[in-house]
Amino acid sequence: MLTSSEKLTDSEKYNLLVRGFMLACGESTEAECLTRMLFGTDRTYGPVVIRIRKGDLLFLNNIETDSLHGVFRAVTDGGFNIEPKAWKGRYSYQVRVETLGDKITINNAKSILRRFGMTRNTPLHSKRLAAFLDFFLKAPSFVDSVANSETSKSHSLILEEKERIASWTGEVDIEEEIPLIESTTLWDFPKQSYGLKPKGNNKYAGVTPALIIYNMMWRYTEPGDLVVDPMCGSGTTIDVGEEEKRRVIGYDITSTRPDIIQNDARHIPLEDNSVDMVFIDSP
Ligand SMILES: C[S@@+](CC[C@H](N)C(=O)[O-])C[C@H]1O[C@@H](n2cnc3c(N)ncnc32)[C@H](O)[C@@H]1O
Repeated sequence: MLTSSEKLTDSEKYNLLVRGFMLACGESTEAECLTRMLFGTDRTYGPVVIRIRKGDLLFLNNIETDSLHGVFRAVTDGGFNIEPKAWKGRYSYQVRVETLGDKITINNAKSILRRFGMTRNTPLHSKRLAAFLDFFLKAPSFVDSVANSETSKSHSLILEEKERIASWTGEVDIEEEIPLIESTTLWDFPKQSYGLKPKGNNKYAGVTPALIIYNMMWRYTEPGDLVVDPMCGSGTTIDVGEEEKRRVIGYDITSTRPDIIQNDARHIPLEDNSVDMVFIDSP
């Protein structure tokens, strides 16, 4: 509940926003999701999962049966290898979940998701998320299966979530579409940055498009890995790393901000083989 939202920064306000994320499963993986109470995905949707925060609402779409299970709530932030052995290690980007009361299942998921404009990398929030929850409350399987659904635990928990969603009064930009990893080698980015926070300084001569660094990080490293940029310029690599949960050391011959260490790239003061990736956009 926001009591003094005017005192919070935009990013603190954004951190209180409840988002609704949809993850996918198939017939062979659904049971493991529900018994472990863990949802997982591979690297393709890794960027989505690492943005999930504890308290966000989650829905599980079985794409083979075209059904949608809900309503779940994240009990951890999204992370990497929470349970390394789950799904035989195939889906390492994971989030632990709890159900709000009874699991409710809706059929014809594809058409409902289309109606709400919800995809795996466009989570819902605010009014659209509240309307999506209404859909679960009215789902025939819920109304039929839960005796006196108006007083059921799921009903009151979902209504509590609707109140939590309505209590968010922040007026800040919201990340509507989470970028995914490029699937071809032809990359064309219309903007220097992505997401809510600027990455580097787009006025810096020779600044690197942030999505190039983003794609390199997602192709060659995992969350928590160490990336080094010996010619960090305005700090784009540091900012991308922060958002994508990588550790970054940034050097430049002329440091433009306190987190860039002044250093000539002809000598890098690190042990050999001590980092996971080096990114350089040289002059
Ligand atoms: C193309 S810019 C890098 C832009 C950066 N990736 C960004 O997004 O802001 C190249 C950078 O290399 C730095 N540089 C040039 N010679 C260097 C050297 N010998 N050691 C370290 N940095 C150097 C420049 O100061 C410049 O910031």
